[in-house]
Amino acid sequence: MEMQEQLSSLLAKAAAELQAVRTRPELEAAKARYVGPHGGFTALMKQMGSVAKELRPAVGKLVNESKGRLQELLDSSLRGIEAAELSTRLGPPIDPTLPSPDEGPGSFHPLTLVREKVCRILRKVGFTVADGPEVETEFYCFDALNTPHDHPARDAQDTFYFPPSTRFANVSRHRPDERYLLRTHTSSVQVRTMLKGPPPIRIVSPGRAYRRDATDASHSASFHQVECLYVDRNVTVRDLKALIDYLFESLLGPGTTTRFRPHYFGYTEPSFEVDLSARHLPKVNKEWIEIGGCGIVDPEVFKSVGYDPAAWTGYAFGMGIERLAMALYGIDDIRAFYQNDLRLLRQFSGGS
Ligand code: DAH
Repeated sequence: MEMQEQLSSLLAKAAAELQAVRTRPELEAAKARYVGPHGGFTALMKQMGSVAKELRPAVGKLVNESKGRLQELLDSSLRGIEAAELSTRLGPPIDPTLPSPDEGPGSFHPLTLVREKVCRILRKVGFTVADGPEVETEFYCFDALNTPHDHPARDAQDTFYFPPSTRFANVSRHRPDERYLLRTHTSSVQVRTMLKGPPPIRIVSPGRAYRRDATDASHSASFHQVECLYVDRNVTVRDLKALIDYLFESLLGPGTTTRFRPHYFGYTEPSFEVDLSARHLPKVNKEWIEIGGCGIVDPEVFKSVGYDPAAWTGYAFGMGIERLAMALYGIDDIRAFYQNDLRLLRQFSGGS
C-alpha cells in the first residue's frame, strides 16, 4: 500500500530528525515540517480523500496510529530538551553526602565580645557571674527593687506582660498570683541572688532585657545589659566610682574617664547616671556618652530580701551592652547587631 509506505518512511525520517534536535527553535521548525500547514504529514492527510472507499477504514486507522507515533516523537524530543535545560541550570553534579567545604573558624558576635570582656575584667576583682531568667515576675523586676506601683516603667506600654493565664514552670514566683513579664532590666538578678543566701555578694550578671520600644537606630525591643551588685560592710560611693573607673579604663584603654550625674532609681540611694568620655576612640566624637545607672543599694531593697539594712551596705550598677559595643567598635545603628550580616560579623574574627 502506497500510503502505508509513505507513512512509515515519513515516521522513520521524523524519528531520526527529532532525535538530533537540541533546541526549542529546532523543535518548532521540525514540527512545522511534519504537522504544520505545509508539513509532510499534513500533506498525506490531505490525500485521504483520494483513497478508495473500501480501503478508507484501514488507511484511516493507519493514519491515526502514525499521528500518535509522531506526537510521541515530538513529546520525547521536548522532554529531552527540557532535561538538558534543567541540567544546564543545575550545573555540574554534586554529592550532597560529602561534608561542606571548610569555612574556617567562626567568630564571636560583637555583643558576645563586649559581654565577655566586661565579665573577665570584673572576675579579676572578685565578681562571679550570676544568671537569672528572662521571663520574670513583678516582684523580682519591680516590687523588691522598691519601684512604686505607679512608676512608668511598670506601665503596660513599656513592659511586655504575659496574659494572666500563662504559666512558666521553670520561673519561680514570689507570690502565687503574680503576673509574668519579660524583664525590663537585669536588675532582677540582684533580687534572686540576694534571696539565695547571705552577704557578702559580688556578682556580675549579663543578659537580655526587653522593653516595648519602637525600633530605630538606637532602640530595640530586645537588648542586652550587664548588672553588678556588691554587698558587704561599709560600702561607699567611692568604692563604686573606683570600680566603674577600673572597668571602663580596662575596657576602653587609658584616657577613659567617667562621671556621675545625680538621678533617681528606686533601688539605689543616692543614684547616679554614668557618663563616659573616651575621645581616643576614633568613632567616639561626643564628649560624654551616657552608659548606665548606678548607686548605693536602697535599704528598702535589703528589707525585701531579708537583709538587715543596718548591717549591710552595697552598690549596684547596670549598663547597656549595645551602647558600649557601639562606642567601642564605632557601630552607629543598633539594628546592625541583630541582622547577622556576615560583612559586619567577619570584621570581628580574630578579635578577643
Ligand atoms: N536598671 C537600670 C536600667 O535598666 C540600670 C541601673 C540603674 C541598674 C541603677 C542598677 C542601678 O543596678 O543601681 O536603666
